[in-house]
Amino acid sequence: MYIQNGKRLYRLFCLVILMFLTFVTTPIATLAQEDCLQCHGDAGTTVNRSEHDFLSCISCHRDIEGFPHVKGASLDKKESVAVCADCHEGRVADSYADSFHGKAVHLGSQRSATCVDCHGAHDVLGQNNPNSKVAKENIPETCAICHENASPGFAEGEEHFQLAAFGAGAPMYYTAKFFIWLTIITITALVIHMELQLYQNLRLILRERQRR
Ligand code: HEC
Ligand code: HEC
Ligand code: HEC
Ligand code: HEC
Ligand code: HEC
Repeated sequence: MYIQNGKRLYRLFCLVILMFLTFVTTPIATLAQEDCLQCHGDAGTTVNRSEHDFLSCISCHRDIEGFPHVKGASLDKKESVAVCADCHEGRVADSYADSFHGKAVHLGSQRSATCVDCHGAHDVLGQNNPNSKVAKENIPETCAICHENASPGFAEGEEHFQLAAFGAGAPMYYTAKFFIWLTIITITALVIHMELQLYQNLRLILRERQRR
């Protein structure tokens, strides 16, 4: 009788411990993609219609694991660029980093353009899609969000060109080269000039000493 009760108590005790451990080791249930959609259905629909239909929410929203969300879960300008550039590394990310916009955002500008300003966050579409923000006909409008009084032709020209001797990047390439060489030549000339001046001063001093 006592033994029977002891066994039962022991089992109950084990069960309680197990439940406690389960409770402790899962502090907040990790949210699955479907969970996100229950509260953010619109975002799901938009992403599914985009070029990124194969991505899950947390491919980009990496900090979000549960609800309530961690503080600062929204992606600011710099963070969003880092997220996009992770996958679009190489020419696209490099050309952006070299651009006026990229440099300004890197320095903390809240006004300059990020990937998201030109391509959208959830509604990213390829440039051949007429609804894309970067479709040929829509580019002027996309730039005009910030460049109100841009001259016609402002929005023309490739965006993600490579700084290379051939192709769309050539003018920038040669301008950059020109300034690099200009700097090298100027500094070299300056150093030679200083050396000569120093040499002349030294000779004057020596001559003074010999005279004494
Ligand atoms: C129970 C409903 C619920 C679930 C599930 C949920 N969210 Fe949210 N989410 C909210 C609410 C409410 C807000 C606005 C308040 C806040 O920031 O907490 C929000 C805000 C956000 C924001 C904006 C953050 C900000 O500070 O502006 C992002 C991004 C986000 N959710 C992504 C996700 C992702 C990704 C998932 C799935 C992993 C998810 N959410 C699951 C309800 C939910
Ligand atoms: C390709 C990357 C990417 C994917 C995939 C993505 N998001 Fe976002 N999301 C962003 C960025 C970037 C922002 C910030 C937008 C801004 O600055 O306007 C954002 C903003 C948000 C916001 C807050 C602003 C708003 O639109 O209300 C919510 C909520 C959100 N995302 C939920 C989701 C959910 C849910 C999914 C999955 C269905 C998802 N996101 C998939 C990049 C992404
Ligand atoms: C000032 C606007 C602007 C910004 C900022 C910008 N893009 Fe683009 N992007 C464009 C335009 C316009 C095109 C269309 C093709 C072109 O002109 O090069 C494009 C094309 C693309 C393409 C497809 C074609 C290709 O060249 O491979 C990808 C991918 C892309 N951008 C990703 C990004 C990412 C990632 C970032 C941020 C690191 C970014 N873009 C920043 C305007 C922009
Ligand atoms: C997890 C990886 C991943 C992330 C994060 C991501 N992308 Fe993509 N993206 C892809 C892949 C893969 C494709 C389809 C193949 C391609 O064209 O590069 C694509 C396609 C695109 C295209 C269409 C390219 C075309 O052919 O015209 C654009 C524009 C683009 N992404 C911009 C962005 C922007 C802006 C962000 C940030 C908000 C972003 N991507 C975040 C992986 C990613
Ligand atoms: C979200 C706002 C925003 C969008 C969208 C935007 N820009 Fe800009 N852009 C700026 C700001 C702010 C500056 C000035 C400071 C800097 O360099 O960031 C600038 C500077 C520039 C410059 C260099 C200096 C100048 O004023 O001539 C060029 C060129 C340029 N943008 C082209 C474009 C083109 C082309 C597009 C569309 C494909 C575009 N921008 C879209 C905000 C934007």
